[in-house]
Amino acid sequence: MRILVVGKGGREHALLRAFSESPDAPELFCFPGSDAIFEIARPVEADGLESLVAWMKANAIDLCVAGEESYLVKGEGLANLCEEAGIPCWGPHKQSAQLEASKEFAKGFMERHSIPTGRAVATASLEEAREVIGGQYPVVLKFDGLAAGKGVAVCLEESQGEAFLDEVFVQQRFGEGRVLVEEFLTGPEVSIFAAVVDDGYLIFTPARDYKRIGEGDAGDNTGGMGAVASRRLIPSETLERIEREIVAPTVAGLRSEGLPYRGFLYFGLMLTPDGPKVIEYNCRFGDPECQAVMPLVTGDLAGFCRAGAEGELRPELLDFDEGWSVCVVLASAGYPASSRSGDRIAGLDQVGDARVYHAGTRRSGEDWETAGGRVLAVVAGGPERKAAVDAAHAATDRVRFDGMQRRRDIGILHFENA
Ligand code: AMP
Ligand code: GLY
Repeated sequence: MRILVVGKGGREHALLRAFSESPDAPELFCFPGSDAIFEIARPVEADGLESLVAWMKANAIDLCVAGEESYLVKGEGLANLCEEAGIPCWGPHKQSAQLEASKEFAKGFMERHSIPTGRAVATASLEEAREVIGGQYPVVLKFDGLAAGKGVAVCLEESQGEAFLDEVFVQQRFGEGRVLVEEFLTGPEVSIFAAVVDDGYLIFTPARDYKRIGEGDAGDNTGGMGAVASRRLIPSETLERIEREIVAPTVAGLRSEGLPYRGFLYFGLMLTPDGPKVIEYNCRFGDPECQAVMPLVTGDLAGFCRAGAEGELRPELLDFDEGWSVCVVLASAGYPASSRSGDRIAGLDQVGDARVYHAGTRRSGEDWETAGGRVLAVVAGGPERKAAVDAAHAATDRVRFDGMQRRRDIGILHFENA
């Protein structure tokens, strides 16, 4: 089997590693990829969506996997073009990927299918947004479009709300667009991943990510500084409720609205005092949750995704380890405001049984050096959370580069009462 993965980060490195461990040793390709990815997958000569699909067709690719979301909604859409070319694609059609690309679409969808989420109103101007907010803080403001993770502002007070509205409507930092004014929710967050195949689905191991740069969840939002995954992350009754009230109605809703979906669907949830509510949908696996979850998945992930892309849900191909997995992200100097490249990375050969996934690195002779904001993810597991936490942090201690930033509370914060 020949598989092509689209993306270049730690998530794609983890997916490719999982595919490489699938029983029939598939041939792997990646676009655009990275130096580390090209140690396990071959590069692709393409310079955009159309040439990528043409390359896949010319090179008899059996399965295209969308690691990241951007190509799903670009142009005619990756999955749409794959379908025309007769290439099975794990990742949804453009019209379905609106669940992630448009927060307003996602809100409307959840309303139509009675899926619990925060109340929200879409606004088109600074004046309208101010009127809807009505001076009532805290409130959450969301730019309606893909804004590279920067489009959400949790505003505890008016000055923060005004600053965000100025960025959107006055400076137009994210381009043209509307702003959703959303109810402020509270509670622990959890990321749920379902592999959706038409009207069926399989829920993977739940995870939690750590979005802020600093320990104790202080400082700026990032792409994610770490993650924890386990079946035991939340009580089984809670997971059953999430499945009943959120996952099943979402999959049924996609079906009833004629929105084709074969691929991972990510539910970003908040466990509020009134029950689980959807914060956001993403049409792909989470990053860095994927790096934490993949080591818990055994069996034939390649076969599972291929069958799914061809319309057959085959849960019997996979097993999930009942233990814990902890992923610590190492970021470069300056991140998230900026990032420094060219710092030599030491200790990668000293991490023992831990897995290291590369996000922003490049080769420099025999060595690796930093080449991006999030540089590496170090992942280790254990039967209990504490064992996994200790193993992940001990392995992370072995890796060093100048300006390295990491959080020592990954897997510990938010588990104080566990
Ligand atoms: P997002 O970019 O949609 O993942 O949102 C980033 C973060 O903002 C989420 O992980 C939450 O911590 C927070 N957030 C988003 N929506 C809400 C909400 N309605 N109430 C409270 N916090 C929220
Ligand atoms: N971990 C957050 C995301 O992948 O969007």
